[in-house]
Amino acid sequence: MTATVRPKAGAAGVSQTNVRVDALVARMTLDQKIGQMTQPERIHVSPAEVKAFHIGSVLSGGGSCPGRSRPADWVAMNDAYWAASMEEDEDHLAIPLLYGVDAIHGNGNVRGATIFPHNIGLGAMRDPDLIERIGRVTSREVLAAGVEWTFAPTLAVSRDARWGRTYESYSEDPRIVAGYASRIVRGLQDGRMGVGPNGVVACAKHWVGDGGTEAGVDQGDTVVGEEDLRRLHIAPYRPALEAGVLTVMVSLSSWKGAKCHAHRYLIQDVLKGEMGFGGFVVSDWNGIDPLADDYSKAAAMAANAGIDMFMVPETWKSFISGLRTQVERGAVPIERIDDAVGRILRVKSAIGLFDRPRPWARRASNDVEFGSAEHREVAREAVRKSLVLLKNRRGILPLQRDARILVTGRNAHDRGRQCGGFTVEWQGVSGNDAIEGGTSIWEGIREVAPRAVLCEKGGADATREHFDAAIVVIGEKPYAEGLGDIREPAPVRAGAIQPAAGPGVLEPYGDTLELATLHPEDLGTIRALAARDIPVVTVLISGRPLVVNAELSESSAFVAAWLPGSEGAGVADVLFGDCEFHGRLPVSWPADMPGDGDSRSNGTRGTRARALFPLGYGLRMGSLRRC
Ligand code: GLC
Repeated sequence: MTATVRPKAGAAGVSQTNVRVDALVARMTLDQKIGQMTQPERIHVSPAEVKAFHIGSVLSGGGSCPGRSRPADWVAMNDAYWAASMEEDEDHLAIPLLYGVDAIHGNGNVRGATIFPHNIGLGAMRDPDLIERIGRVTSREVLAAGVEWTFAPTLAVSRDARWGRTYESYSEDPRIVAGYASRIVRGLQDGRMGVGPNGVVACAKHWVGDGGTEAGVDQGDTVVGEEDLRRLHIAPYRPALEAGVLTVMVSLSSWKGAKCHAHRYLIQDVLKGEMGFGGFVVSDWNGIDPLADDYSKAAAMAANAGIDMFMVPETWKSFISGLRTQVERGAVPIERIDDAVGRILRVKSAIGLFDRPRPWARRASNDVEFGSAEHREVAREAVRKSLVLLKNRRGILPLQRDARILVTGRNAHDRGRQCGGFTVEWQGVSGNDAIEGGTSIWEGIREVAPRAVLCEKGGADATREHFDAAIVVIGEKPYAEGLGDIREPAPVRAGAIQPAAGPGVLEPYGDTLELATLHPEDLGTIRALAARDIPVVTVLISGRPLVVNAELSESSAFVAAWLPGSEGAGVADVLFGDCEFHGRLPVSWPADMPGDGDSRSNGTRGTRARALFPLGYGLRMGSLRRC
């Protein structure tokens, strides 16, 4: 069964779904309609309030997890919300709640989940078939938690590596992003057109131009003209809509100074009108706040621009009363409210939510395949195919399995760091404890190279007499959103502020893309080993291309591993020659730090953002099998 969501059909083509939805909308009070358009965060809403305020959806912000964050804890939480939403009485209509999470590289919130490489690594694979398989595994591990909606895929076209969300983009090339869009949607929604029985609601985001802001500032301003906006940033959404994606999330950024969250032309006219999007549009976290000082007016601006559901994590009660006031004043036509509610109900109907049993009773809940070896093998294949070989002097790679290998570097044995942001916590984690299952890069090496040793202190006393080579795993620590921006050290306001942390301003990652400045210890480790004639194979863990000229120069081989996720063993599969390198750069690699005005967000290459390696670059070791 695959159901699709289409704009309301004409009288002749009225579908059974539309009849059912229209009849339900006709029975709903204004409070019930506005409640259906409201999405609080789980920390700020109880099941009793879901019923009392007729709430249509609840979300988990990154890291906002029930109990011990195991599937059973999530299923229990969702069951309580679902039950409350279905408790019909004289004041409340039974309309099943839709729960949303950021399963953007696997169900990253939940302990023991299969965590895939972040999108920038997947872009290096150039493998749409595998993208669809990743979507199917992700969907199963989301359903296992009793959840039906993921805020993925991100279809950003990242044009400036200074953006803290570069790793959420498949590529700087809209054609690569577009080539994946329909496949990840079909994988997540389990359907060629719309949603199958093992599907979840997918969400194409962030509409539109999030990856094209000036200097890569998160939530900044994308100043391209309309032709470039369509060519670079709108283009990937077309295949996603053709594949039947059911929701679209609005960007926190602006287009030529106008906030996307109030942009009627982009949402109502282009996305829903010209492109015929028939699902519903959801705002981003507190996305309406900057629209007006008067919160009620901000809600009206966003509703009139075409937003249907509102992610209002903490301020949801003010939102409900504010929007009701605006409707009663006539500032928001009731037809706009009915359209929004109709879209939401048609999406819920399209995934069969009205007919699904409660979360506890669903076959997909607590799926024994959650985090299974079979799922992890799909992720490990993605790791292998995502690796990009940038240097291999005198063919040092592949390494021999019986070689005496020194393994060191801050990211060598750290499953948290190799997963990056939106994993267990919003900002990600360091260390191994929180990433249950999977393998660090070191744990993968140890499996295949019996004479390898881990030296977490950098190998200061290692000598050429004792070691044939060193593998040094370096790079970034985890981050998410504006905290990952590379910009002048000025506070940034992140979109999804960690609920526990509360609203505020947050500091960026740093003010340069030069790794030797961000993390000098990495170059120090490489230099110390190279100075003792120990050939160094450097593996870079990062959410983006960095300026690594010094590290490259001192290394015999250099591998871009991006953020590989839980299955670090995929790196050893390639370094020791089980499989050939497959990856090709999904973004051009900078030779130096772009300066102001150099950003390629405007569709053209900046003058100083010279590429050291071009888009598509990637070496091979020789005639090894591809796997
Ligand atoms: C954040 C992000 C968005 C995410 C949402 C919910 O602000 O911009 O990508 O889906 O909040 O966590």
